[in-house]
Amino acid sequence: MTTTLFTDIGELVTCDASLGDGTALGILRDAALVAEDGRVVWVGPAKGAPATDGRVDLGGACVVPGFVDSHTHLVFAGERSAEFAARMAGEPYTGGGIATTVAATRAATADQLRVAAALRVAEMTASGTTTLEAKSGYGLTVAHEPRLLEVSREFTDETTFLGAHVVPAEYVRDRGAYVDLVCGEMLAACAPNARWVDVFCDEGAFDAEETRQVLRAGMAAGLMPRLHGNQLAHGSGALVAAEFGAASVDHCNYLLDTDIEALLAAGVVTTLLPAADFCTRTPYPDARRLLDAGVTVALATDCNPGTSYVTSMPLVIALAVRELGMTPAEALWAATAGGAKALRRTDIGRLAPGARADFAVLDAPSHAHLAYRPGSNLVGATYRLGALV
Ligand code: NIG
Ligand code: FE
Repeated sequence: MTTTLFTDIGELVTCDASLGDGTALGILRDAALVAEDGRVVWVGPAKGAPATDGRVDLGGACVVPGFVDSHTHLVFAGERSAEFAARMAGEPYTGGGIATTVAATRAATADQLRVAAALRVAEMTASGTTTLEAKSGYGLTVAHEPRLLEVSREFTDETTFLGAHVVPAEYVRDRGAYVDLVCGEMLAACAPNARWVDVFCDEGAFDAEETRQVLRAGMAAGLMPRLHGNQLAHGSGALVAAEFGAASVDHCNYLLDTDIEALLAAGVVTTLLPAADFCTRTPYPDARRLLDAGVTVALATDCNPGTSYVTSMPLVIALAVRELGMTPAEALWAATAGGAKALRRTDIGRLAPGARADFAVLDAPSHAHLAYRPGSNLVGATYRLGALV
């Protein structure tokens, strides 16, 4: 067993309210952290740190828990910059472009998918992400969907079966047959490499009854539910998420008060994806309304080639502060502890004894700089399980 002391931390954000300044961020100043075999075993004032085998001096930097990017479509081929340019010239986003990525992804080899995903993961790591969720959803056949999850598994354990992303062209005349395929053969092929089941429950994608059918089948196969909902219109996503006790419902641009009450009562995390709103030029959701109602809010990138070709959680934090009405502290909590809740994890998103020693060292004196200095990569180093990545 080896112990390492990380010391001279000007501001240590633990995201544990029982530590430090007593806020949700649990901030300690002039602090130190001890990691042993990848786990945090001690945090406290630098002066009181115990003796350790190794020592890393962080020069007064701010240290935050590694970002938990709880919503990505990591594995895909091709790009859709022409669709982006058309949107910026006034075209609306409808989800129709998903078919373009499905065609490119089916045509790519597993190795091409792996190499492209690895580049995205490298960008994520460089911007402080230490845990990411990755969805399938660009294969949409019994042969292609499992391949996306196999590649995803090489990068993360938080893998999600999204066979119900859209109805592929070959099934538009028989949606029911596609939903049956998703719930049957496709699910059986995907479940061994998935932890979660997700459905795009929205206008132009899947309706409430289809969503229920897929969630029921996924849960029967041992997967836990999460949803895309209420992105393009006011639909049933949030209510179905509450009905099934989903870990999270993601996007939520269109919510009624009754949706918010149901999410709160069912303890469903609401994951906001402001980079998708930014890149589709659609109205942002109001995080203030959710927070004031007591709903748990998480933030994620939604990294995908259609709505959000974004890998940076610091950019998402800056957008959340500037556009969703969050404070810098609320946004950082949502991007770390909030993401952990959206993935039902207690070992990440915080830096307290027992948690994984996953953290980002900022080239800045305080966490507020993440929102205050948008566009600069302030992440100087990323550590996973106590080791520099
Ligand atoms: O989360 N909304 C559904 N799925 C993705 C976009 C997929 C695409 O356009 O390729 C999203 O925004
Ligand atoms: Fe998404």
